[in-house]
Amino acid sequence: MKTKITEMFGIEHPIIQGGMHHVGFAELAAAVSNAGGLGTITGLTQGTPEKLANEIARCKDMTDKPFAVNLTFLPSLTPPDYPGLVKAIIDGGVPVVETAGRNPAEYLPALKDAGIKVIHKCTSVRHSLKAQSIGCDAVSVDGFECGGHPGEDDIPNFILLPRAADELKIPFVASGGMADARSLVAAMALGAEGMNMGTRFIATQDAPVHQNVKEAIVNATELDTRLIMRSLTNTERVLNNEAVERLMEKEKALGDKLRFEDILDEVAGVYPKIMHEGTMEAGAWSCGMVAGLVNDIPTVDELITGIMSEADAIINSRLSNF
Ligand SMILES: Cc1cc2nc3c(=O)[nH]c(=O)nc-3n(C[C@H](O)[C@H](O)[C@H](O)COP(=O)(O)O)c2cc1C
Repeated sequence: MKTKITEMFGIEHPIIQGGMHHVGFAELAAAVSNAGGLGTITGLTQGTPEKLANEIARCKDMTDKPFAVNLTFLPSLTPPDYPGLVKAIIDGGVPVVETAGRNPAEYLPALKDAGIKVIHKCTSVRHSLKAQSIGCDAVSVDGFECGGHPGEDDIPNFILLPRAADELKIPFVASGGMADARSLVAAMALGAEGMNMGTRFIATQDAPVHQNVKEAIVNATELDTRLIMRSLTNTERVLNNEAVERLMEKEKALGDKLRFEDILDEVAGVYPKIMHEGTMEAGAWSCGMVAGLVNDIPTVDELITGIMSEADAIINSRLSNF
């Protein structure tokens, strides 16, 4: 399938794996790229420019196809070495960067000068237009359904995607709630040029996370995610568990007085325990409503190949027979 996104990134299928903290290592990024999609290494999980450079080199050993690095800009008292991470990306010859969080304008000139394509992930039309105006090449439009940070507007993709299509000149992919061929075809019908998946890619044999995480996604339904940290204007969609219920009790008790320090036990530094040790009650971790559509743990290649052949059947058999 040829779209503006496959052409822009030099990939075979319009399927992107979004950056995911403590999930997006070289193994997953390479598996997605080898299957014809665009895999993504998560920059901040590596932490230092040296470690990121090493991860990029590892990925290059595993694939000769294009892959991306995610740079998430978070408000922080001790910010990561973003200039160093950008340099590692440029020196490593990475062709695509997925930015997320704050406006990436500060780093765009360096990335663009190096010929790197930038796709900015955002949760609203106004932020998408901003990304377009500062020179991003594409946008990943992340609906309210998404795992991770859906923003504060709560607009689901059935509204957000056609709104984006009406306003944007640069191409965009649909992100949030995407799981299968139906998602891809629907996203394209709504104006997207491809799709970005997070949660679905975690439940694959290639994702370098503990089996408990994959099984938690398979066992979850679409009713099992919760929104946390709303009063901190840092809303995150997570899979419900004991830690999340404890956190929500604190939110209920403290209301607008809740500070980040009050929930440190539930959110700070929990990802390694969950993703690598499989201690599922260790804290809150991002997960999309799309878990309700995930019932198996295929290889990434089986997943992507299956999506593309089923999309073909939907377009050329089901839809064309109406
Ligand atoms: C476990 C997990 C960790 C994530 N970490 C990040 C991150 O560090 N940076 C980022 O930009 N997005 C992050 N995301 C969001 C994904 O890249 C993607 O936008 C989102 O998962 C799409 O929604 P879906 O889960 O419904 O497919 C994360 C998502 C999950 C599920």
